[in-house]
Amino acid sequence: MAEVTEQQIVEALSRIIDPDRKADIVSLGMVSGLAVKNGHVAFAIEVDAQRGPHLEPLRKAAEKAVHDLPGVLSVSAVLTAERNTQGGPKGAPQGGHGHGHQAEQPLLPSVKAIVAIASGKGGVGKSTTATNIAMALSRMGLKVGLFDADIFGPSMPRMLGITGEPVSPDGQTMMPMENYGVKCMSMGFLVPEDSPIIWRGPMVMGALEQLLRDVHWGELDVMIIDMPPGTGDTQLTMTQRVPLTGAVIVSTPQDIALLDATKGLNMFRKVDVPVLGIIENMSYYICPKCGDEAHIFGHGGAKAEAARLSADFLGEVPLDISIRQTADAGEPIVISKPNSPHAKVYMEIAAKIWDKVQVLQSSRKGPRIVME
Ligand SMILES: Nc1ncnc2c1ncn2[C@@H]1O[C@H](COP(=O)(O)OP(=O)(O)OP(=O)(O)O)[C@@H](O)[C@H]1O
Ligand SMILES: [Mg+2]
Repeated sequence: MAEVTEQQIVEALSRIIDPDRKADIVSLGMVSGLAVKNGHVAFAIEVDAQRGPHLEPLRKAAEKAVHDLPGVLSVSAVLTAERNTQGGPKGAPQGGHGHGHQAEQPLLPSVKAIVAIASGKGGVGKSTTATNIAMALSRMGLKVGLFDADIFGPSMPRMLGITGEPVSPDGQTMMPMENYGVKCMSMGFLVPEDSPIIWRGPMVMGALEQLLRDVHWGELDVMIIDMPPGTGDTQLTMTQRVPLTGAVIVSTPQDIALLDATKGLNMFRKVDVPVLGIIENMSYYICPKCGDEAHIFGHGGAKAEAARLSADFLGEVPLDISIRQTADAGEPIVISKPNSPHAKVYMEIAAKIWDKVQVLQSSRKGPRIVME
């Protein structure tokens, strides 16, 4: 299929009318940062901050108008209150976490893109997915970091097979740990596994900020963040404080059916972080003896449900014992069995994520679209 052109997109958008100003959004100069890559489209619609919440239907209509064009695989439209060329989402809260003046400095300035892996509920395979995607992006030749934001149940030391403590050259900052070429930081490197951490919300945020700020990450193309389970205040604050490029929702087929995925989606949409799509994990079962696929929870439902939620479907990962065993052994399947079908699934998902990240990055730098 021929790739969609910018002109076709602008034409489609010029049929979208701003309900308050009674003119189309292109003539009004509200569209900016249009970017297209391999059928993935991103753009921003600039609006006054106070009009934001009530213009969600306008955003959806614009997204749908472009999605309906032939050759379009995904569309990400964000409402922005002001032009943002810094690469981060707007509206990050100012301070309030006990860091004084430090809180105003952006977090992770040397990291080009940051992608959160989240879910509506726990135990769906976020950490396994985050690890394998980080490995896949690294295999694509990118400089990758993996940040474990799960303070209470860190997984990364086990999943990356890393033991020991991070080195601190000056007694104040830390070097990240590293395995398979991926840099990693986790509370699990600093606190013994069996010691329970009982902290309250603000302390958790302080600890997370410190782990992000006081680690020598160096220049990274992309950082993957393994989010803690749930959609509570800590998760919401984290999505506001960290300049996320986008978020990926991991869900099992049952959760998609039960709409648990929606909770995760809504958390990011609330703070205008683009949702890059949904990954269905433990999607189907492959019999280890005969290789037969069993679609225990039906097939195709997740894709349809993702479309209904206006989210892109990034792919499905089967329920397979080798994915669990390699994760538990600290040898993620993308690295330990690089030619297995499962590794290929993760590689394909990672490539889609990277395409979308690049589109969003060029969208942020892109000019405002004006009528000739
Ligand atoms: N596709 C899969 N096939 C088989 N086992 C899997 C798969 N994905 C995850 N698992 C296993 O399921 C368990 C939970 O996975 P994981 O720890 O990644 O979930 P999580 O969403 O990060 O959990 P939490 O919410 O507690 O952080 C682990 O034992 C993991 O090895
Ligand atoms: Mg986890």
